[in-house]
Amino acid sequence: MPTEHPTRAAGLTWITGASSGLGQAAAIRYARLGRMVAASARSVGGIDDAARLAAERGALGEAAVAPIRAVGLDVTDRAAVGAAVARIEDECGPIGMALLNAGTHEPVSVDEAGHGFDAATFRRLIDINVMGVVHAVEALVPRMAARRGGTIAIVSSVAGYRGLPTASAYGLTKAGLINMAEALRIDLARCGIDVRLVCPGFVRTPLTDRNNFRMPFLMDADEAAKRLVDGLDRPGGFEVTFPRRFTWQIKLLRLLPYALYFPLVRRSTT
Ligand SMILES: NC(=O)c1ccc[n+]([C@@H]2O[C@H](COP(=O)([O-])OP(=O)(O)OC[C@H]3O[C@@H](n4cnc5c(N)ncnc54)[C@H](OP(=O)(O)O)[C@@H]3O)[C@@H](O)[C@H]2O)c1
Repeated sequence: MPTEHPTRAAGLTWITGASSGLGQAAAIRYARLGRMVAASARSVGGIDDAARLAAERGALGEAAVAPIRAVGLDVTDRAAVGAAVARIEDECGPIGMALLNAGTHEPVSVDEAGHGFDAATFRRLIDINVMGVVHAVEALVPRMAARRGGTIAIVSSVAGYRGLPTASAYGLTKAGLINMAEALRIDLARCGIDVRLVCPGFVRTPLTDRNNFRMPFLMDADEAAKRLVDGLDRPGGFEVTFPRRFTWQIKLLRLLPYALYFPLVRRSTT
């Protein structure tokens, strides 16, 4: 059983949720590093923008800008995810790295009368954030195992570290992804598959543009994509998290007992 995980993924990188924000910025960065990308999302317009922007900004380093191949895909559709992975590998070659980034956020605010808690919100977020990743892992594992190689990088969030106000649905999905990635890191090593976890803090994207609260250490998507790509290229690690000054503060909250955690979070968020 392999214990050392390969790092810089060879071959094609497949990115889900690449039509905007972090996924789009990562697609542009990989392409500018000369690494071919298959990029998917429901709206391919944003992926075409990524290919254009990568070409306009030019190469990073010696290699020429690589193509970005757009694949329209809704990750909640299990059969479509399986078909998309098969098509990408048939047309572009084996996926060396899958960056499972597609995700969304909807706040859950409960008013004093108890209104606002809605199961439909939870189902939507679980379908996209969790089942979208599960569908991709299901399609990738037999293929990567047959090659005894490949990296699956799962994008979670610092919101998965501990319960935060209005994030009961989003946090549930992101905490679940952290736990799943830890388990898969152990389980898939025996197939030669490297599982990585990405936990960003606040990144300026269409998702956070909707927030009406102060976001400490907010990063631009290009800088976040640089940290993400550099982190995934670094040998031997599991988690990639940025900006570290912020994410480590949130990580430390995990060590606090509830008697200290709840008053602290209430004070700093109200
Ligand atoms: N921004 C932050 O501060 C932050 C912090 C921590 C973690 N994250 C995580 O980072 C990831 C990217 O977020 P972002 O901030 O870049 O948000 P974003 O700009 O809203 O991008 C989300 C991406 O996911 C895609 N997507 C959503 N639903 C989909 C579906 N059903 N099928 C396929 N693709 C779907 C969207 O494309 P279409 O709508 O075209 O399908 C879009 O490309 C998410 O998992 C998010 O939870 C973000």
